[in-house]
Amino acid sequence: MKFEEKPVRLGNSPVSIMPLGFGTWAWDSTGQYGTGRDYKEEDLRAAFQTSLKSDINFFDTAESYGNGEVELLLGKFLKESKANVVVATKFPPWRNRFLKRHLLTSLHSSLKRMQVEQIDLYQTHFHFRFVPVQTWMTALADAVEQGLTKAVGTANYDASRLRMAHKLLAKRGVPLASNQADYSLLHRHPETDGVFETCKKLGVTLLAYSPLAQGLLSGKFSPTNPPPGDRGRRYDASYLAKIQPLIGLLNEVGQSHQGKAAAQVALNWVMCKGAIPIHGAKNAQQAEENAGALGWRLTADEVKALDSASKDLQR
Ligand SMILES: NC(=O)c1ccc[n+]([C@@H]2O[C@H](COP(=O)([O-])OP(=O)(O)OC[C@H]3O[C@@H](n4cnc5c(N)ncnc54)[C@H](OP(=O)(O)O)[C@@H]3O)[C@@H](O)[C@H]2O)c1
Repeated sequence: MKFEEKPVRLGNSPVSIMPLGFGTWAWDSTGQYGTGRDYKEEDLRAAFQTSLKSDINFFDTAESYGNGEVELLLGKFLKESKANVVVATKFPPWRNRFLKRHLLTSLHSSLKRMQVEQIDLYQTHFHFRFVPVQTWMTALADAVEQGLTKAVGTANYDASRLRMAHKLLAKRGVPLASNQADYSLLHRHPETDGVFETCKKLGVTLLAYSPLAQGLLSGKFSPTNPPPGDRGRRYDASYLAKIQPLIGLLNEVGQSHQGKAAAQVALNWVMCKGAIPIHGAKNAQQAEENAGALGWRLTADEVKALDSASKDLQR
């Protein structure tokens, strides 16, 4: 089924984005991603520009990616392009951050690194159990009031914290726009742990991170060609062998959609589920391929077949 994609509103916020977004975690050169320096700034710039040309208008980053390095890079690309881009970043509530002002100071530093006066979406990166949700929701609402961000969201919040965050923000008249969760064919936990259902009930958009399971669903890794670094430790040879039938099905399904690649089918599956995937690309080729997930949809039977093939592969 082919059609023209339209922007989707993030929850009840004033921010709208195309149904496929771009994440910049993999641009982190500090090795966190397990990739090291196997790419150059030119590759990342090309990934950014290729995405913009393909109608992708949402770019997600975080203070913690390369300790601000990735925000600096994204800011540079934004300035060069002068395009109308929707930008999101995240506040990491590390151990020494426990006051409302810590979030606001952190946001000011992110804005400075990205060379903008206002961000579109500011998110708490995760929950740190010693600081009440209320502290960060009060700070996020203040950030909206001060014009520092247009919308606010969470990441890695469980269902009960989502309800709490939504309620606290609503008291201040601020909608909770989105929640980020690890969601792909290999990580379908949001379907069973209440997160997806809660998002739907509250009108909060689910932003699916690692929608390609860090590259696994592109089909390029196998027991004899494992991913490098941390990813290789997370996904060992026996798991890589186990997922091969699913990769086969992704390719087979892609064939009935004018030869779509496994990665494009995997991203499309997330969209069919009602979430917005934010993929990570590190060069123009990956960006172009992933953007090809837009403009068509899997059939309900294909979604069902992929559901069934991935059921016992959950990580
Ligand atoms: N809130 C959170 O806690 C959180 C956590 C994780 C991620 N995120 C967000 O979600 C974004 C996406 O996560 P992710 O980077 O893990 O996404 P992903 O799309 O699942 O994986 C990205 C990696 O897969 C490989 N890849 C991408 N497209 C490919 C293609 N077409 N063919 C072959 N390989 C391809 C690339 O790595 P190689 O080329 O190195 O193989 C790339 O770095 C992040 O950038 C970040 O913005 C948020």
